Amino acid sequence: MSEEVKEVKIETSGKVIQSPCGPIIHGLEDVLVKTTTISDIDGKNGILWYRGYRIDDLAKYSTFEEVAYLILYGKLPNRKELEDFKELLASYRDLPSEVYSIVTTLGKVKAHPMLALEAGVAALGAFDENPNDYSKEANLKRAVKLTSALPIMIAAHYRASRGLDLVKPRKDLSHAANFLYMMFGKEPDETSTKAIDLYLVLHIDHEVPASTFATLVAISTWTDLYSAIAAGIATLKGPLHGGANEAAMKQYLEIGSPENARPYVEKLLAEGKRVMGVGHRVYKAYDPRARIYKELVRQLSEVKGNMTWYRIAEEVEKVVLEKLAPKKLYPNIDFWSGIAMYLLGIPYEYYTPIFAMSRVVGWAAHAIEYLDQHRLFRPRACYTGPHDVPYVPIDKRQ
Ligand SMILES: CC(C)(COP(=O)(O)OP(=O)(O)OC[C@H]1O[C@@H](n2cnc3c(N)ncnc32)[C@H](O)[C@@H]1OP(=O)(O)O)[C@@H](O)C(=O)NCCC(=O)NCCS
Repeated sequence: MSEEVKEVKIETSGKVIQSPCGPIIHGLEDVLVKTTTISDIDGKNGILWYRGYRIDDLAKYSTFEEVAYLILYGKLPNRKELEDFKELLASYRDLPSEVYSIVTTLGKVKAHPMLALEAGVAALGAFDENPNDYSKEANLKRAVKLTSALPIMIAAHYRASRGLDLVKPRKDLSHAANFLYMMFGKEPDETSTKAIDLYLVLHIDHEVPASTFATLVAISTWTDLYSAIAAGIATLKGPLHGGANEAAMKQYLEIGSPENARPYVEKLLAEGKRVMGVGHRVYKAYDPRARIYKELVRQLSEVKGNMTWYRIAEEVEKVVLEKLAPKKLYPNIDFWSGIAMYLLGIPYEYYTPIFAMSRVVGWAAHAIEYLDQHRLFRPRACYTGPHDVPYVPIDKRQ
């Protein structure tokens, strides 16, 4: 233990633990790990930019394919570039039969679909035609392949888990429409497609949350992109990261009717419990993604002829804005997105995989960007146990 180490003041809003070796920034909160030009968050004012563009504009005018191009290649595509990119994505709409087999086997045994994605992505790495090429071009190509592969894996897992025949992907549909088609076996209506497309646009990147950091740690060892993305998926699986939209939706189901919303939330808060889909580590204002998605949920609810969940959420929102906004707690994207997934008929366990289906683009872009400013991640831990403990032979141990 070093006696010279005194309390050190570190500029951070995160929690600092004083250890015998010096301060520990718990959870690396607010610690900068890289520079990036991919996305930026103004948590105080509730603004999110992708490559400098406000998500409000991208959500209004662009599709997932356009935004994926922007995130991966750093610029919005012109018409020709967009058409070529769509064709490229569609050309990768297939999986080796062995990968299908892994994913569907895991579906049949009812393994969590996130486990199937981890396994499927790792397995896809085994089929890379040029595994030793770690160039930016090769990784970009892999990123596009993975973007096409994830929805196929999710749909294959879903259908196998329900004993349904697989629906082969279609190359003539958009990324979002093809996903719903593979899930449910029929061409989706425009609003349902828009619900998935916008969800994908709003989740494509979010600077460096835990899953992106896991991807960065993995790629910092110069492992392959498939393995790094599998690390991202594994990290997203945890309920503190993906999964809050499911909890929010279950909360609305429990509330049951708009009239019950206020007493329910007031009781929850009086008991010191949390309202699901509210609060964010970075946003201390209304999550801009939530603001955008709320309107989509309203439209989707109208098209599906079921306003109940939207109305319940609206009532919950009123209480939250009244009671929690003064503590800088506002609805986040999960507050609204669970309703859309529910109305689309997507089972709860697929909510996080659909998040991964979008974020795979951000993970890949960050991994590729990090390789340009590469340094192996190797933090230290402060050892607080004893040293030089006398060794006791096994027969003499108590
Ligand atoms: C997202 C979340 C984990 C962020 O947490 P955080 O930044 O670490 O904030 P803390 O857990 O330190 O909470 C700070 C204060 O806000 C309160 N708070 C945070 N989220 C709350 C919520 N959803 N409902 C009610 N109170 C909440 C805490 O009780 C705490 O109050 P206190 O200071 O009086 O003890 C947290 O807001 C949460 O659990 N939200 C619900 C789950 C969710 O929607 N997650 C999705 C995030 S995209």
